[in-house]
Amino acid sequence: MKAQLETIRQSALEAITAVQAGPDLEALRVKYLGKKGELTAVLKQMGKLSPEERPAMGQMANDVRAALEAAIEGQSAALSQKAMEAKLKLEAVDVTIPGRKPVQGHKHPMYTVLDEMKEIFLNMGFEIMDGPEIEQADYNFTKLNAPENHPSRDWTDTFYLEEDSSVLLRSQTSPMQIRAMEGYGVPIRMISAGRVYRKDEVDATHSPMFHQIEGLVVDKGITMADLKGTLNAVIREIYGPETQTRFRPHHFPFTEPSCEVDIRCHKCGGKGCSTCKGEGWIEILGAGMVHPKVLRNCGIDPEEYSGFAFGMGLERLALGRYKISDMRLIFENDMRFLEQF
Ligand code: DAH
Repeated sequence: MKAQLETIRQSALEAITAVQAGPDLEALRVKYLGKKGELTAVLKQMGKLSPEERPAMGQMANDVRAALEAAIEGQSAALSQKAMEAKLKLEAVDVTIPGRKPVQGHKHPMYTVLDEMKEIFLNMGFEIMDGPEIEQADYNFTKLNAPENHPSRDWTDTFYLEEDSSVLLRSQTSPMQIRAMEGYGVPIRMISAGRVYRKDEVDATHSPMFHQIEGLVVDKGITMADLKGTLNAVIREIYGPETQTRFRPHHFPFTEPSCEVDIRCHKCGGKGCSTCKGEGWIEILGAGMVHPKVLRNCGIDPEEYSGFAFGMGLERLALGRYKISDMRLIFENDMRFLEQF
């Protein structure tokens, strides 16, 4: 029996110290110390011993049990220590590695120009209004005095959303004039900027979606001199104090008289080049004195009130401001382009 116990002690201790995983250790515990374990089996034979032998054997069996329990506990502690170290190693963070720098964006150059424009007009006492891109034909055309047969009303020019041509994607920001007068009455001084839509093919100067800034001033005694003075001041603020302007007669249904305003070509200074198509001048906006019919359509008496209005393309403004040659660059959002501003 002594030899049996000695064998158990040796083989068990060997096995326990060799174990590498918790479940295997538990299996060993059962194998040696469990109810049907090897040590227990030996203890069950104690009854066969002589009374003289029993105490010594009992003592030895207890020693073996204690040794095995201690070994299992020790190995268990060693295993969890090892597991903890492995986990820590796996989850280690090297705080000395340089961080990943988030790419920081900035305002689109065209919106920088828009902000500048808003600032200029705010300083002149204008209010800023917002309006819908999905608009009624009534506001986009009819109340602006556009005749039923006006070419811009054609389905080939404008994006209609209803079969009966009553709702559309606004083709200009001018409907904001009507909304402003109807909503707030007179006197009024406002600008409104936003997207407009036309069935244009994409090229260097056209896009089916672009941006306009609309302006409207209505009060008693407003004249063409106010129009010229205001627009000249704004243009010189944006393009520099030396900028030359030219007011050309033109036609718009909602203004009478109407004009287009050009600036001296910023590229060639007036000699004629590809940017100004040999003209020496670049058209930047349309304007005019608000048509009496438009005032009347908004319930305003043209005998008492007069006003001027203007509309300009924001992309073109940005192109001129930053000397950009192709409008498509404004929409493509190529980071190499945008990062230059
Ligand atoms: N809506 C015109 C266009 O899209 C621009 C314009 C011209 C606006 C004259 C006006 C104006 O307010 O008075 O071409």
